[in-house]
Amino acid sequence: VLYGQEAVKEALIDQGDEFSGRGKLALADKLAKGTGIIFSNGERWKQLRRFALTTLRNFGMGKKSVEERIQEEAHFLVERLRNTHEKVHEEIDRVIGRSRSPCMADRSQMPYTDAVIHEIQRFVNLVPMGVPHAVTRDTHFRQYVIPKGTTIFPALQSVLGDSREFPKPEQFNPGHFLDENGAFKKSDFFIPFSAGKRICVGEGLARMEIFLILTMILQNFTLKSPIDPKDIDITPLPSVVVSSPKPFQLCVLPR
Ligand code: HEM
Repeated sequence: VLYGQEAVKEALIDQGDEFSGRGKLALADKLAKGTGIIFSNGERWKQLRRFALTTLRNFGMGKKSVEERIQEEAHFLVERLRNTHEKVHEEIDRVIGRSRSPCMADRSQMPYTDAVIHEIQRFVNLVPMGVPHAVTRDTHFRQYVIPKGTTIFPALQSVLGDSREFPKPEQFNPGHFLDENGAFKKSDFFIPFSAGKRICVGEGLARMEIFLILTMILQNFTLKSPIDPKDIDITPLPSVVVSSPKPFQLCVLPR
């Protein structure tokens, strides 16, 4: 188990090749049988990954055409839905206004919203133990020799929840991604998509969707909990792989 930012970075980035194998998951063995980009290895994985990245790029991942499709999708959502945070509302009204849709160019002028989104992804901690890797050959790592094929868990939780970078990591605080002037502050510890050669291929698409959909919802609605938000139980449902919230109720009020 790779625990802490230094160990995860040293393995997945500095020794990226050796740690680029995919480890075994019993469920995946049964379902994927070694096929598909997520669970394959070696030449098959290299080709699938190259194909997936090229296809996503051709499809326009992270580009204008996909931006327009996500805006359209968010529009439908908003049509159908017809206090997360005052500050996000304030930033949306100031930078975007009410008469046009949010677009990716707005993000750089919305440090608070950007910080909220980063903090949501940090706090949600979607894949706490990461997706298992495997070493592709006998590997020297720090004082250890790790035999070829050994399963490696990059514990993303140990980086996203590191108190040296995020004081009081168990608390939701967008300030974790803001400097003293309120500007957005990048962090090397922000690795919800993992790092290195196996990093999530959908990162660009996912980040675009989260920004456009969240800002479009908050541009049009106020979200309110029917009970005091302090009383919502935010401990995630027990799970080995993906951490998800318990069901909760939310009122969506037009602004
Ligand atoms: C918030 C949304 C998402 C999060 C937090 C997330 C996170 C992750 C993580 C942690 C991994 C494992 C990386 C590793 O092995 O170290 C991964 C792999 C992967 N993700 Fe995502 N992901 C997200 C959305 C997406 C989307 C939208 C797509 C598709 C467009 C996608 C496609 C993939 C694929 C294909 C892999 C396997 C890559 C490989 O094995 O080479 N993900 N993701």
